[in-house]
Amino acid sequence: MILFSSRSVVLSVYYPQIFLILTSGSYLALSSVVALGANIICNKIPGLAPRQRAICQSRPDAIIVIGEGAQMGINECQYQFRYGRWNCSALGERTVFGQELRVGSREAAFTYAITAAGVAHAVTSACSQGNLSNCGCDREKQGYYNQEEGWKWGGCSADVKYGIEFSRRFVDAREIRKNARRLMNLHNNEAGRKALEDRMKLECKCHGVSGSCTTKTCWTTLPKFREIGYILKEKYNDAVHVEVVRANRLRQPTFLKVKKTRSYQKPMETDLVYIERSPNYCEEDSSTGSVGTQGRLCNRTSPHADGCDLLCCGRGYNTHQYTKVWQCNCKFHWCCFVKCNTCSERTEVFTCK
Ligand SMILES: *[C@@H]1O[C@H](CO)[C@@H](O)[C@H](O)[C@H]1NC(C)=O
Ligand SMILES: *[C@@H]1O[C@H](CO)[C@@H](O)[C@H](O)[C@H]1NC(C)=O
Ligand SMILES: *[C@@H]1O[C@H](CO)[C@@H](O)[C@H](O)[C@H]1NC(C)=O
Repeated sequence: MILFSSRSVVLSVYYPQIFLILTSGSYLALSSVVALGANIICNKIPGLAPRQRAICQSRPDAIIVIGEGAQMGINECQYQFRYGRWNCSALGERTVFGQELRVGSREAAFTYAITAAGVAHAVTSACSQGNLSNCGCDREKQGYYNQEEGWKWGGCSADVKYGIEFSRRFVDAREIRKNARRLMNLHNNEAGRKALEDRMKLECKCHGVSGSCTTKTCWTTLPKFREIGYILKEKYNDAVHVEVVRANRLRQPTFLKVKKTRSYQKPMETDLVYIERSPNYCEEDSSTGSVGTQGRLCNRTSPHADGCDLLCCGRGYNTHQYTKVWQCNCKFHWCCFVKCNTCSERTEVFTCK
């Protein structure tokens, strides 16, 4: 049984409606609430595509893990972009995956890749821990010998193929419109999952007297999600500008090619791709989803993106002064008391105008 309380934070952020239903039936185990009302709950989650709603109804246990995976992706996005003009927030429609960016920019590319990877990571991890029905450890890797390298698969290998397939079925199901953006989103979802798949690790353990390695067993484990965040951030920096090719009879977008090449060069499957240039994210603009940088904390002396010059887009900054007070120079007197001084320091923080 999954207790509701430990998951309430994620639920309340991403599924405010579910949260209401659950709190009104307080202290019920989540599994039984879900069993009782998968229909009701899945119909109340905002922004689900029809196929996603169907998956929610047939696998209510997975919807919680999907929510956690999407949340993990969003947290990582906010971490990676904490010093940027765009800090991973957007104005606009709220969905299971956070708020969507309207412009098909490289920022949108990053958010799609990181959430698709987050869902695959969370589902794989939940499978390994026995938290999801229908999956577990990778059975293909149980008990077999790796002849060349002389070790045996053992322990619980993370079934990343299952997690990735689940992410593909669920996350990709939101692309229902047949437009250029769909091709872009699907490509970036896949690039995010590929980044995860390529960083699966092999862990091994030796068995034998006094540390000798007479037999060795190995299993695959998931990388830390932070590692995926850094990799996708690099791919964001090198993102590829693409355009659609309308190749079929109905002139629907059929595939993506690298922009400004004469030949039909396709982007690599590990590339992040975008179809529109980014807005500058300086001012609030609901048509692009930019929240602007007004009120952001900046660093007056930094020459980098977090510096007030760049972050505030030349609008200048406000200085806030405050006094930090703490106990210091504490001395122990015989016997038995501690005497401290009070120290203070004037500190300043800067926020963009
Ligand atoms: C699996 O379930 C346990 C107990 O409810 C929980 O502590 C753990 O975080 C879950 N793991 C995942 C990956 O969801
Ligand atoms: C991002 O910046 C906006 C606008 O200044 C701010 O309201 C929001 O709290 C920031 N988000 C994060 C995650 O720091
Ligand atoms: C501001 O930036 C400077 C130079 O990059 C750095 O040394 C300093 O630690 C930063 N200050 C804060 C509060 O982050």
